Amino acid sequence: LISRLPDPTPADVVDAVASGGLPPVVYYRDVESTNDVALALASSGVPEFTAVLADVQQTGRGRLGRSWFSPAGAGLYLSVIVRPEGLDARTPLITLAAGVAVALAIADASDLRVELKWPNDVVIGRPWRKLAGILCEASAVGTSDAVVVVGIGVNLLPAAYPAELADRATSIDRERGVWCDRPIARAGLVAGCIQQLREQVRRLRADETALVLDRWRELGRAGLDGAPVQWTDERGPCRGIAYGLGDDGALLVRHAGRQDRLVAGDVVWERLSRV
Ligand code: BTN
Repeated sequence: LISRLPDPTPADVVDAVASGGLPPVVYYRDVESTNDVALALASSGVPEFTAVLADVQQTGRGRLGRSWFSPAGAGLYLSVIVRPEGLDARTPLITLAAGVAVALAIADASDLRVELKWPNDVVIGRPWRKLAGILCEASAVGTSDAVVVVGIGVNLLPAAYPAELADRATSIDRERGVWCDRPIARAGLVAGCIQQLREQVRRLRADETALVLDRWRELGRAGLDGAPVQWTDERGPCRGIAYGLGDDGALLVRHAGRQDRLVAGDVVWERLSRV
């Protein structure tokens, strides 16, 4: 996968990560999936928070086996290498920490009022439209070579989304509207995402997990405070009321007179997302 040499990293990206004191970003114009490249690169011993960036992905992956629409130039396709040393039982919280990191980086770069949809979609507006998604993939879990690749896809410019996505997705450019004369700088957003991810992972390592979770709860408040939700589990389709985020990252729901914890899967917010 990494037998092909990377393309020269754009100078603005080199400058932005260097001025943030971050490890280098490895850039490819065209890849199958930046997550694959990052997983392969991680085994060559590169430092934590080394990242892979591409202009276009041929087979971008999303959560739950979906594909991630990755046309040239319209999105940010970035994968960051995290080494879960010292995180132990907090390793699964990387995925929530990544949501916080990307939401804060986008808000900082664009001034948009973004929100989080559990577990880690960055959304905006009513109904929610998706601005960014995150796919964490792990390898060698439980060994000293364990790695978690945090794959970040951000919609930067309006693109010709497939019909099933068209009314559920949006882009930073579209949300900022006509009063902004220039698109936001991709290099700054790349550095911002990596820097924020480094900070949120530092908090997890430093036993400041509560800071990460509380930030998540603030950014995700609309979907936690008594919001009606639907999901499907081994019992079949279910409806309930979301009432919080557990300290282990689970979505807490009241359902059929009981309290339940959702740990994975797809949840639909009846009043916030398009059902
Ligand atoms: C989601 O389904 O919301 C997660 C989407 C994650 C997409 C990003 S783009 C960069 C990285 N490479 C991939 O193949 N997927 C992630």
